Amino acid sequence: MITALLNKFRKRNKQKLREKKKNRKLEEKKASWTSRWGSDEFNPFWAREDFPDSIQELIDDGSIPQGASLVDIGCGSGYLSAMLSEQGFNVIGFDFASTAIERARAAYPEIPGKLRYFIADATASMPFQETFRIGIDKGTFHMLPKINRPDYVNSISKIIEKGGLLLMFYARHIAVKLCRSSGDEPGEIMKGHILKLFTPLFAIEDIRPMTFKDTMEGGKAGFLIILRRK
Ligand SMILES: C[S@@+](CC[C@H](N)C(=O)[O-])C[C@H]1O[C@@H](n2cnc3c(N)ncnc32)[C@H](O)[C@@H]1O
Repeated sequence: MITALLNKFRKRNKQKLREKKKNRKLEEKKASWTSRWGSDEFNPFWAREDFPDSIQELIDDGSIPQGASLVDIGCGSGYLSAMLSEQGFNVIGFDFASTAIERARAAYPEIPGKLRYFIADATASMPFQETFRIGIDKGTFHMLPKINRPDYVNSISKIIEKGGLLLMFYARHIAVKLCRSSGDEPGEIMKGHILKLFTPLFAIEDIRPMTFKDTMEGGKAGFLIILRRK
C-alpha cells in the first residue's frame, strides 16, 4: 500500500518536472528567436531569398495541388509564405516570435483570404480554426528541443487534414546530433527518430536528399521529409 502510494507520488513528481523542463526549454527558445527577429542586424539570407527547389518540384508535379490551403509552420519573416501566396496558394504563416510576425506583416502585407499571419506556438493549440492540405516546416522542427517534439506532432496533426502532407526540412548537421556514435548514418538515425515520433498520426512517404541554399559554396546538405497525415 505504502509502496504503491510512493510510486504514484514519484510518477506525478516526474511528470511535473518534465512539464517544467518542457516549458523552460520552449520559453528559452522563444526568447532567443524573439530577440533575434527584433534586431535590425538579423537579416539571414534564407529569410529573403531561399525558395526551396524541392518545394517548387512538388508544386510542378502536382503533389502540392494548385490552390491548396497551406500552413507555413514557423514562418519567420514571411518570405516563403508570401512567395507561396503569390503562386496562388491560400496561406497562413505562423511563428511564436511576435517580432517575426511584425516583420512579416511589414515586408509582405496580409491579403485577406490569401495570406495571413498569426503568432502561435507549433507545440500548442492554434489561435485559428482552419485545417490545411499542406504543411511546410522549413527549419522549425529540426531546431526544437527533443523534449518539445511530441507536443509538436500532436498539435500539427490537428491542423493537417487526413490525407494531407507535412513537408519538413531537416539539415544533416542537425541530424548528426541525434547520432550516438560517429559510425551512425545520420539519415537512418533521423528516419528512426521521425518514425517513432510521428507514428501513428503520420506515415513517412519519402525522405529525399536536398540542399539548403547557404552562403557556403555548394550549400548545406539536408533532407526533405514527406509525411502523410493518416
Ligand atoms: C530557422 S527559422 C526559419 C524561418 C522560416 N521558416 C524561413 O525559412 O525563413 C525557424 C523559425 O521557427 C520559429 N519557431 C521555432 N520554434 C517554434 C515554435 N515552437 N512555434 C512556432 N514557431 C517556432 C522561429 O521563431 C523561427 O522563425
